[in-house]
Amino acid sequence: MSLEGTDVAATDAVTKGGATNEDGTSEGAPLLTLSDVSKVFNGDLVALNGMSLQVRAGDFVSLLGPSGCGKSTALRLIAGLSHPTSGKIDWTGGQGAGDLGVVFQEPTLMPWATVAQNVWLPWRLRGKSYASVKDKVLEALALVGLEKFAGSYPRELSGGMKMRVSIARSLVTNPRLILMDEPFAALDEITRHKLNNDLLALRAKIGCTIIFVTHSVFESVFLSNRIVVMAARPGRVIHEVAVDAPYPRDEEFRTSSAYAAHCRAASDALHDAIGD
Ligand SMILES: Nc1ncnc2c1ncn2[C@@H]1O[C@H](COP(=O)(O)OP(=O)(O)OP(=O)(O)O)[C@@H](O)[C@H]1O
Ligand SMILES: [Mg+2]
Repeated sequence: MSLEGTDVAATDAVTKGGATNEDGTSEGAPLLTLSDVSKVFNGDLVALNGMSLQVRAGDFVSLLGPSGCGKSTALRLIAGLSHPTSGKIDWTGGQGAGDLGVVFQEPTLMPWATVAQNVWLPWRLRGKSYASVKDKVLEALALVGLEKFAGSYPRELSGGMKMRVSIARSLVTNPRLILMDEPFAALDEITRHKLNNDLLALRAKIGCTIIFVTHSVFESVFLSNRIVVMAARPGRVIHEVAVDAPYPRDEEFRTSSAYAAHCRAASDALHDAIGD
């Protein structure tokens, strides 16, 4: 998929095959397949053991599990930042690991650069001048509600705003897949709820596929159509919980009995993972 001349805001769910059904399921084309992927560090530390997972266009997949179960390891393998010790990662179409955006727990913004210059970074690394991609930078900032802060510096922003800049930076090249590693874990609960709502609205608008790491049952149920529950020592997948609630999801969903029932199912799976 060429990213040249692609307009972030103008790209809709259809062009990426990223629509999610009303019941929360996705019938998009397979995008990424992990087959029996393992990662061993230092010869004997099994960070990930035999992970198999197929992600379809339009999926919002959460990886949920206790500390050390290999969630970040799985994301790093998918991002191509590290390579499996065994097993295979296959991309269907697109540009593989070159066609994704990544958001970490820390916003990791350059303090000496403006908000717009920070969002420009992925294009800059691809050799594009600011002038040639300025429209894309401003559109990505508009998508996260920060168009008025293009000229501000990170120190002038709240924690939630910095995270929005980091999300805008992950969107600016219009990737088909966005990987998010506990992006909201450091934020207070109200800001976190707001960013969860905004993330779903954003996804509905641009139709990207998301793999999202979290420790929070509540967050995973609110956001995802699939929750992959993982256990530690060795890191592995032990359950998958489907959240077949329709999108869009809003505050009404957050207080519904269906939400509570899904949280209970995910929580039971997590207790299984922790072994109690
Ligand atoms: N580069 C590395 N070298 C050696 N061991 C590593 C490396 N990266 C991860 N590990 C180990 O692999 C295991 C899984 O780590 P990982 O960071 O994937 O867990 P996680 O599920 O993301 O945990 P958390 O929720 O705390 O972020 C841990 O035991 C960790 O110490
Ligand atoms: Mg981690």
